[in-house]
Amino acid sequence: MAKYCTLNGVILGKETQSLARGAVQRIAVRTIQSRTSTASSVPVLQDVRYNKDSNVVVTQWQTGEDESTSWPCAWLRDNCRCDDCFLGTSGQRLLIGQLLDPNVTSLNTQVTDGNLNIEWSDGHRSSYCPTFLYERRFTESNRAALVAPEKIHDVFWNTERMMGRLPTDTFHNLLTDDEALYAWIRHLEGTGIFLITETPTEKGMIEKLANKVAFLRTTNYGRDFNVHAKVNSSNAAYTSRTLGLHTDLPFYMYCPGMQMLHCIKQVETKGGDNQFTDGFYVANWMKEHHPVEFDILCKTPVRWADAGTDFHEFHLLYTVPIISLDDDGNVSRITYNNQARDSTMLTSVDDTISFYRAMRLWDDLLFHENNHIKFKLAEGEIICFHNFRVLHGRTGYKTITEGERILQGGYLDWDELMSRRRLLQNKLGYQKYYHAK
Ligand SMILES: [Fe+2]
Ligand SMILES: [Zn+2]
Repeated sequence: MAKYCTLNGVILGKETQSLARGAVQRIAVRTIQSRTSTASSVPVLQDVRYNKDSNVVVTQWQTGEDESTSWPCAWLRDNCRCDDCFLGTSGQRLLIGQLLDPNVTSLNTQVTDGNLNIEWSDGHRSSYCPTFLYERRFTESNRAALVAPEKIHDVFWNTERMMGRLPTDTFHNLLTDDEALYAWIRHLEGTGIFLITETPTEKGMIEKLANKVAFLRTTNYGRDFNVHAKVNSSNAAYTSRTLGLHTDLPFYMYCPGMQMLHCIKQVETKGGDNQFTDGFYVANWMKEHHPVEFDILCKTPVRWADAGTDFHEFHLLYTVPIISLDDDGNVSRITYNNQARDSTMLTSVDDTISFYRAMRLWDDLLFHENNHIKFKLAEGEIICFHNFRVLHGRTGYKTITEGERILQGGYLDWDELMSRRRLLQNKLGYQKYYHAK
């Protein structure tokens, strides 16, 4: 029986395999979720009635945990599946908003041949199959079931939790095994970092991997990019200097979601190590121990900019604080890149002084020995990381000629990654997604 490995108490996968190489032991992960397909029996409608006072249709199910369900008339009319209201081939609504009466009422309801049939006050007639309705029940339990497949258990990590526990799989497995591809995406969602091994040391492998998901995200640096020391470079990454921990391309409103760096050639001399820090872990730690500085980083608008010529001519500018919060006050995004932080400020003199103190604390925490992991990528490895969350850096290195260290990089957007994950989830039978159809 395969073993499950856990990180911070969360099940990450089975089939653990420790690979000791230098200071880093990686855990091979093939599958991170057992099959949870809900093979339920087909629901059967027993009865239906119309409640005029609350303008809802109430259905009675023959079996099931929610035996009676109420349906707002406006919702039922809105989701009519006839050819006039719905395009079955695309799964899209044809009914335009101006034709939907929010106060539409039911003139007649009945169950015929197992389906719910309704005659509406606007003269339209609709028919609904019980499975369609059952999957959309307005109940607490169904709401929980609908959002469950999207729930990712974020595993925040520091050095102790991640050193020697980097989730890992081979390039071959990711390209040939759906379960491996699924586990890879899930890990990127949950821990924000993943190491791929045994990749051919030639260019184009990043694109091959991206094509298993969707397509590479093109940016001002091209469809993919090569990181090596260049003369007259268009980006600090294209030098051999130390790069502080940062997220990439903060000057984009639609910032690339996930980055892949493929080590094709590594310098044999000292330096050129990669560093990674979980920005969510550090931000949460800061919130607890330095709430004033945390608040400053959440509220100070920072201008991130990049101008020049690479893939084409560009002048990109976006303003966003270093730490973004979601509606519930949870840390949802890190934007931090000293190379691309603009010198123009939108803050007062006093606020700017406070901001610098908070930012210095933030940078110190990112680099704290308890918070970052460091290792030198080996040739044939691809490190993948969540660009809204995991900051990456590099120690400087010495080269004599150009091209002694070659990394090829590329990005994938989270929309595409999550889309592929949902498709795989359905295909592998892990958890069912309900499409609009
Ligand atoms: Fe970078
Ligand atoms: Zn219709």
